[in-house]
Amino acid sequence: MRRLGAAALSRRRLTSGSEGRELSRACRFKVRLYGTEPLTSPTAGINAREPLLFTPGPLTTSPAVKQAMLVDIGSRDPQFVAKIKNVRESILAAGGVSIDDGFECVIVQGSGTFGVESALASAVPLEGSKVLVVANGAYGHRMAKICRIHSIDLSVLAFAENEVPTAQAVKVALENDVSLTHVAVVHHETTTGSVSPIDKIAQAVKSVRGDDVTLIVDSMSGFGALPIDLIVGNIDYLVSSANKCLESVPGFSFVIAKKSKLETTKYNTRTLALDLFSQWRGLESNGQFRFTPPTHAILAMDHALREFEEEGGAVGRLARYRHNHSILVKRMTKLGYKLYIDGEIQGPIISTFLTPSDKEFDFEMLYDKMASRGIAIYPGKLTEVDSFRIGTIGRLFEGDIHFLASTLEDCMREMGIPVPVNY
Ligand SMILES: Cc1ncc(COP(=O)(O)O)c(C=O)c1O
Repeated sequence: MRRLGAAALSRRRLTSGSEGRELSRACRFKVRLYGTEPLTSPTAGINAREPLLFTPGPLTTSPAVKQAMLVDIGSRDPQFVAKIKNVRESILAAGGVSIDDGFECVIVQGSGTFGVESALASAVPLEGSKVLVVANGAYGHRMAKICRIHSIDLSVLAFAENEVPTAQAVKVALENDVSLTHVAVVHHETTTGSVSPIDKIAQAVKSVRGDDVTLIVDSMSGFGALPIDLIVGNIDYLVSSANKCLESVPGFSFVIAKKSKLETTKYNTRTLALDLFSQWRGLESNGQFRFTPPTHAILAMDHALREFEEEGGAVGRLARYRHNHSILVKRMTKLGYKLYIDGEIQGPIISTFLTPSDKEFDFEMLYDKMASRGIAIYPGKLTEVDSFRIGTIGRLFEGDIHFLASTLEDCMREMGIPVPVNY
């Protein structure tokens, strides 16, 4: 088994000119996040000893995004307050909207779930409301769980994990139950990697009782790459996180909300920390967070959003992810692996592969072997079938995908797993 040294690893990761420049910039700062060995090559530094994360978050970020965090800044520092403003406005721009279009960006400290819980617990009035939760995977069902915890009346429209929700089924559900006031749906179901027809679903939702039905979209792992039109879709709330397609570090989520809807939520308070209305009013009143801000994560995001724009926004990012995904599928197919969902609903963000039947295939062992070679893959999350997942988002390029596939093949041969695998 051939082991890659630090220099070889770095070479493989130098996949584009801009990446190379980022690396050398990183090296000047000599940041060492992993390991205690001295730096051995001009490109060694952040990336040489850092794993590549083929996961949907935390994910691989650029050296420059990491560098942006190397400052301790006070929560009231005018420069930091300006960064918060810029991040909020740039997130709106990433979604193709602005304050002038009637949208607000509210940042919520914590992981993505904090944002989803904040949106649900704040958008739904305490009385006289009922949420239709559309679920085709773990994240849809998580929204249902959030509703139950907050004693929010709900109805679950469930689909199989290898399906996507249909606009027609959502429409019928709304027509059949006039007490439904809100719809909550996942854009990209990270459980499988499927992309729901969000534009059609949005259109169906608003076709039944117009703006009387509030639409909440969890676009956690889709926003910033997969197309979504907030204005045409008349979407009221969209939730995502810094740590997905916008390629920043974990630390906060955000909600893009229609101002006209937010303004009606003052008395919906169910929680203190996740009260979206108060969070918004707090940010608007003095530009600061109500509670301790994720300072370093905001600084990282400020830079990540610049990189996002430089790459051509969601269009550019989607093109790279599609390219990564197509190489992944080609190489994995050669190794015999099968995708769980059909190509028509498969997105380029994360791919779910079925676990082969070969007795030598032990995911835990494979995971550890890959991790020891600097690659993190992801376990499956399906309820009925054994699977594992490989993400293609984050600061990953073509060369990284080839590196992953070659390393996987090496590890398989070392473990005695047949190549190609059997089902
Ligand atoms: C679609 C979706 N919703 C919600 C979440 C929850 O985000 P977090 O794990 O950051 O709380 C995730 C996480 O991957 C997700 O993919």
